[in-house]
Amino acid sequence: MWQPPQRLAFKATPGRIPTREEAAASRLFSPLSHGPLQLTSRTWVPAMVPWRADADGHVTDAVVEWYARLAEGQPGAIVIEATGIRDVPSGPLLRIGHDRYVAGLRKVTEAIHRHSDGRTRAYVQLIDFLVVKRRPLRASFLERFLRITDRHRAALAMAGADDNAVRARLAALDDAALQAVLDAREWEALQKGARERVTDVDLPHIRDLPLLLPGLFAGAAQRAREAGFDGVELHYAHAYTMASFLSATNTRADGYGGSVAERARLPLEVYAAVRAAVSANYVVGCRMLSEECIEGGSGIDDAVFFALEFARAGMDFLSFSRGGKFDDAKQPKVGDAVYPYTGVSGYECMPSYLSDEQGPFGRNLEPTRALREALRDDGLATPVVAAGGIHNFEQAERVLAEGIADIVGSARQSLADPGWWKKLREGRGAKVRQCEYKNYCEGLDQKHKEVSCQLWDRVGLDEPGVMRSRDGKRRLVAPEDW
Ligand SMILES: Cc1cc2nc3c(=O)[nH]c(=O)nc-3n(C[C@H](O)[C@H](O)[C@H](O)COP(=O)(O)O)c2cc1C
Repeated sequence: MWQPPQRLAFKATPGRIPTREEAAASRLFSPLSHGPLQLTSRTWVPAMVPWRADADGHVTDAVVEWYARLAEGQPGAIVIEATGIRDVPSGPLLRIGHDRYVAGLRKVTEAIHRHSDGRTRAYVQLIDFLVVKRRPLRASFLERFLRITDRHRAALAMAGADDNAVRARLAALDDAALQAVLDAREWEALQKGARERVTDVDLPHIRDLPLLLPGLFAGAAQRAREAGFDGVELHYAHAYTMASFLSATNTRADGYGGSVAERARLPLEVYAAVRAAVSANYVVGCRMLSEECIEGGSGIDDAVFFALEFARAGMDFLSFSRGGKFDDAKQPKVGDAVYPYTGVSGYECMPSYLSDEQGPFGRNLEPTRALREALRDDGLATPVVAAGGIHNFEQAERVLAEGIADIVGSARQSLADPGWWKKLREGRGAKVRQCEYKNYCEGLDQKHKEVSCQLWDRVGLDEPGVMRSRDGKRRLVAPEDW
């Protein structure tokens, strides 16, 4: 992951630990009621992919255990990891693109409700993403993947030559000469792996995304309700399809790109289709970016426009993240795919303990405050979820007291100590294990390995019944007294 050059080290601390009485009287542990959004407290576990689904995207026992353990902390809500809405192979990413996934997902919602004694709402994050290929070997790219065109023939003065002759000539060029012959997208495909964009409207399946996606999201939301989820979170953030429609880099000229209003059009159509599919009394919200944190990307003004549109349309919550884009991601190794959390925007999304003067804790709070203020100024009461480096009671309570957000999300701290919310609520905050923000979890995510935490994944490995990672070296769920 990219790190700010200052490399100043920050340590998460417990802050002032509340007594049980203080916690009971706090904003953080007070309920929230907004239409169908009914939370027992304002605590929230944002989506995190733990890579525990099977190769076809089905729920496994390890998925169920993972969420059961998080539910023991009794947060107001857990958002289940990004779950694919299409019925297409996508490796061990959880899927919801067909009715055959419903039975497995029901086990997750039952586990969350049971293990939290009914205190935690279960939401699922619905995601669509485009094709991202692994970085190829130079030879394979030139021999097989590159489509030879007359542009290459012209550049090489090889008019009429057959493809194989052109490929052989390209292979003999050094990198500088090759780059001069390839166009920018071909060069990128060689350097980083080919990556589709929403602007590739010459490809029929990309051109037709506006026709396809509302139905796919709506079908997924219906299945989510059948599986017992209390609501859905539309994934409009980070590097994926819907965020790419919202992005200032979306220059589609078909009414779905260009101005902010046109960029918001498909996300609004998707929302309308989902709402029609699940009715007014079901929770539908979205996760979106306060800022893309890339050159030429959307900033806070764009986000204000989108947030107002989504809230006016009737979304039940808005959850704000930042960054996490492919655009500035590092070049992957040959055989790996580009990972959208390796550049500056990736740092903004999941900042580690090595930071700049601003530090890693709460980098998204001021933009979130601005977004919530814009909603309130417009008379919209839509609850807002803040996240990013929030790890103690004092900080969380301040977010609520200052009106920055209505709900406090904490991802990595909840991974470090899944029971931490309950410990705080019961006046046992001294027992909370503090996340160190070293991004060990994120490193595992990058390799699509089962995500765990370095604070606990080697602890009590030999206890009976401990579920281990595929390589047998790590436990997959935090110990019980953790
Ligand atoms: C292992 C891992 C997986 C993640 N997966 C998702 C995801 O599926 N969807 C999403 O919106 N964010 C995802 N995130 C980002 C988190 O939800 C969160 O926004 C980010 O970690 C910053 O919050 P934190 O400082 O509380 O961890 C993931 C983060 C981690 C560490």
